[in-house]
Amino acid sequence: MEELLQAWYRANERDLPWRRTTDPYAILVSEVMLQQTQVERVVTRYLDWLERWPTADALAAAPTADVIRAWQGLGYNRRALALHRAARHVAAHGWPGDLTELPGVGPYTAAAVRNFAFGDDVLPVDVNVERVLRRTQDAFTGAAAQALMDLGATVCLARIPRCDACPLAARCPSRGTRDEPTRRQSPFEGSFRQRRAALLRAVTTQAKHVDECDEDAVHSLERDGLVVVDGGLVRLPA
Ligand code: ADE
Repeated sequence: MEELLQAWYRANERDLPWRRTTDPYAILVSEVMLQQTQVERVVTRYLDWLERWPTADALAAAPTADVIRAWQGLGYNRRALALHRAARHVAAHGWPGDLTELPGVGPYTAAAVRNFAFGDDVLPVDVNVERVLRRTQDAFTGAAAQALMDLGATVCLARIPRCDACPLAARCPSRGTRDEPTRRQSPFEGSFRQRRAALLRAVTTQAKHVDECDEDAVHSLERDGLVVVDGGLVRLPA
């Protein structure tokens, strides 16, 4: 099936900026952003980020506060801290053989960087790729990774698969079947995540008096290292 998939990909490949590089730092930035944020929202943020911090050394030298500010709007702000710490690790020690030693890098992200930057034959299995593998009951090499991601994101959709547009449909044992609805992400509106995000956004422009702040949110952000409290003020870490 891999050849059919590759032929489809040559004609349908999405033009995404991180596909034009093999720089491991750029790939890492893209994959950390893509962990929990949609492709369309990531594209411009990725380009802006690389313009500002083109290398791991450049990011490593940035103050943490700038990194947190630059992440605003992408969500799940701990990813910014992890990426910053990963850049500092790489700047100090180079790329580790086992990429999961880097903060914020789990098996998926490690496989993505190994494949897209270092050319290793490993398959990064995100939810889209997992769905295609499960439905086709086939094995694919690392060379199929981007094609599997595009097929999963645009054709082999969870709820309403577009089997009529799928290059693998003729051989797919799951043709025409839909996945059961999964639990939706709990609503952001009114959540503790939202309170944290609101406080962090406020502190991003100006330090705030701790007694004007949502106390639980302060403590939670402080535990994550996203804010510090000193002299009665909540502010971004230096
Ligand atoms: N989602 C996660 N990684 C991706 C990539 N490299 N291309 C498109 N979507 C992705």
